[in-house]
Amino acid sequence: MTDDPLPPPSPSPVSGRTAARTAAVIPAAGRGVRLGPGAPKALRALGGTPMLIHAIRAMADSRAVSLVVVVAPPDGAAEVKTLLDAHALPDRTDFLVVPGGESRQESVKLGLDALPDGYDIVLVHDAARPLVPVDTVDAVIEAVRDGAPAVVPALPLADTVKQVEPAAGPGEPEPVVATPDRSLLRAVQTPQGFDRATLVRAHGTVKDNVTDDASMVEQLGLTVVTVPGHEEAFKVTRPLDLVLAEAVLARRRLNDGF
Ligand code: CTP
Ligand code: MG
Repeated sequence: MTDDPLPPPSPSPVSGRTAARTAAVIPAAGRGVRLGPGAPKALRALGGTPMLIHAIRAMADSRAVSLVVVVAPPDGAAEVKTLLDAHALPDRTDFLVVPGGESRQESVKLGLDALPDGYDIVLVHDAARPLVPVDTVDAVIEAVRDGAPAVVPALPLADTVKQVEPAAGPGEPEPVVATPDRSLLRAVQTPQGFDRATLVRAHGTVKDNVTDDASMVEQLGLTVVTVPGHEEAFKVTRPLDLVLAEAVLARRRLNDGF
């Protein structure tokens, strides 16, 4: 108990001013090998604007997010700072740029290490998911504020999934060993949201290389919860994903009346 006066009532469940402050770490240091030759994936254009700028705006659009830490390609921090200066971004949000590492996990850790005190909730969001809607971002933050140590946006799978054994040799078939019940499987997206202390502990403890931060929290034995994901939060991975991303942007422009 303290004698502090109660904070003023929040105008919305996810206000930037009342509850714990939220920062977003954006790993953007990957090369984008599966997208094919060219600039690092996060710096490639979508609708004429770098994918990374879309991803930063998607985080900064949430009124709850007051700091965005961009983890740039290892030799690209200066270029990313120049990009941030060249694009309109909300005044209420602060930005930091740090160089990334060899793996996504290392890049996220470098972003976490750069986080100043005073942020109790951390989102980790792939630069490669530039079009996530703000409602999804806010739903993740809200679930962390409600007490979950780790939150992932998740969608049911469209395809049936098979578990296989490794092929006996090159060119040999992969034998199917199981067909997991699809109704119990989910495809997970970002932003994933965390209680900061939990995520820092996970990154300090778990040494296996993983592609998702929530799985590190699972390895600590803590419960990770899901909120509904969104089809527009898909990851740009292969060339066809760029076609889809351009189509989503074109639809938004049409709906916004441009
Ligand atoms: N990432 C990162 N540092 C790395 C590798 C990946 O920050 N060393 C980031 C990517 O920039 C991306 C996110 O992690 O925003 C998800 O990774 P992925 O989609 O695999 O991107 P890339 O690693 O760039 O692509 P690829 O695996 O095809 O090379
Ligand atoms: Mg990768």
